[in-house]
Amino acid sequence: MWNTKLTKLLGIEYPIIQGAMAYLSEANLVSAMCHAGATGVIATGGLQVDAVREQIRKAKDMIDKPFGVNLMLQSPNKDDIAQLVCDEKVAFVTIGAGNPVPYFEPLQAHGIKCIPVVPSVKLARRVQDKGADALVIEGMEAGGHDGKLTTMALMENVLPEIEIPVVAAGGIVDGRGIAAALVMGASGVQMGSRFLLAEECILHPNAKQAIIQAVDTDSTVTGFSRNDSVRGLKNKWSEAYLAKEYSGAPEEELMAMARGTNWKGAIEGDTENGFVLVGMSLNRLNRIQPVQEIIDELVTETEERLALAGGLLK
Ligand SMILES: Cc1cc2nc3c(=O)[nH]c(=O)nc-3n(C[C@H](O)[C@H](O)[C@H](O)COP(=O)(O)O)c2cc1C
Repeated sequence: MWNTKLTKLLGIEYPIIQGAMAYLSEANLVSAMCHAGATGVIATGGLQVDAVREQIRKAKDMIDKPFGVNLMLQSPNKDDIAQLVCDEKVAFVTIGAGNPVPYFEPLQAHGIKCIPVVPSVKLARRVQDKGADALVIEGMEAGGHDGKLTTMALMENVLPEIEIPVVAAGGIVDGRGIAAALVMGASGVQMGSRFLLAEECILHPNAKQAIIQAVDTDSTVTGFSRNDSVRGLKNKWSEAYLAKEYSGAPEEELMAMARGTNWKGAIEGDTENGFVLVGMSLNRLNRIQPVQEIIDELVTETEERLALAGGLLK
């Protein structure tokens, strides 16, 4: 059991959050995270309210520990999901892709902790001033949608400015990364890519194998020139998309080309015509393990690294 602002805020043993992963982070994965002493976030992207309710109730049946739900502010049903989260009184929400501030008061009135994902110091200060319970900074190393700063630059810029717990995300896949974030002053980490290879993760086996085979240089980002970056594995589809993106193809054509590719990669297992979303730290993602084993390994590695860090002062 560790002691950080985030473990205290959420009442968890280890300050490790399995971040929301569209179509993939459902009740089974989240409950495995909670059983192992960390926590997880149920993804809501692309889901109807009933489907989210089903996942929340399933998770509650499996665990009696705090877990979160992701509120995606560009989703058309965001307000219905916020209401559902209030009715179900989940422990916390991570909030991304829009202005989270109007949601703080109603969610907090139901005892729900609000943890927005922010891309800059300016927004970190704003959500802190407006009463966020914690915040996530997510660097461009992360799998899925991301911004334009690296995790290291975000930590350097944001951590000295912010009092509430800061959770670092993006490119952290092992205990080295966790220890580095904690030593820099983060109160915890959010990780996605490492848990894609969990036995409990429903990612298609083809996509799991593609991640296992991949190395650092296989990472690519689409949409960077349009401020709509999405990181995943380089493949036939991403090469074709990037050729169009940088030849100035119209927005609608690019959007049509991208539509459905996450589902195709993650659920249908089409690793050439779909887009397998995963972060940059690929070399360490090399085997499928149960969540409990992953957390045990992360905890041991982090403790070893922190002990080594202490030794540097002798
Ligand atoms: C496959 C995949 C899907 C994701 N979907 C979402 C999502 O729906 N909502 C969200 O806020 N973040 C999403 N993320 C970001 C993760 O929650 C997390 O912040 C990120 O994976 C951390 O970086 P890492 O991949 O290097 O561990 C996704 C990430 C991945 C890899």
